[in-house]
Amino acid sequence: MDVFEAITNRHSYRGAFTEAPVPREDLTKIVRAGLEAPSGCNKQSTTFVIVDDPETLAKIEDIVDLYSSPRALIACVVDPAPVFQGMSFEKEDCSAAVENMLLAITAMGYATVWIDGQLRMDKRAERLGDLLGVPTGRQVQIILPLGVPTDDCAGPEKKPFDQRAWFNTYGG
Ligand SMILES: Cc1cc2nc3c(=O)[nH]c(=O)nc-3n(C[C@H](O)[C@H](O)[C@H](O)COP(=O)(O)O)c2cc1C
Repeated sequence: MDVFEAITNRHSYRGAFTEAPVPREDLTKIVRAGLEAPSGCNKQSTTFVIVDDPETLAKIEDIVDLYSSPRALIACVVDPAPVFQGMSFEKEDCSAAVENMLLAITAMGYATVWIDGQLRMDKRAERLGDLLGVPTGRQVQIILPLGVPTDDCAGPEKKPFDQRAWFNTYGG
């Protein structure tokens, strides 16, 4: 699958997964795609906890609604320490890494959903951090539950090009 196919085929998946495991080799390949992402001042501030232990996955499901039980999960951990003239880029760094991983996940035949908003409720990010041993000062920002999808659903329609992009002047 080329990169444009992966971009078009990618969509958030909240359906069921098959029993097929996600081998560590594949999880490593996916996270390596995240490691290749750009980051502010090349500080590479995002770190990752890859969860494939069924007991830990079950404990995560007690904290966060994962929609359906995934075979594995990637927790993306941010470090808000300033890196340049008092500025931090931890959310941008993390988002760039996540998009790379979403495309890799799609290209490899797996499915996932970017879970972020949900973690901001009821101290879920903090509780996940405690569970996964994340050090003080760092925070779980995004989690990607994944597996082989059972359903072949599509994502929502995107607005047409001319409603969101223009050459030379905003609004065309
Ligand atoms: C910053 C951000 C936060 C998100 N948080 C959640 C979330 O907490 N739970 C969820 O189910 N989806 C979450 N999503 C996924 C969006 O709902 C999804 O990307 C959007 O509806 C568009 O659908 P698509 O990904 O299929 O194109 C999040 C996406 C982004 C970029």
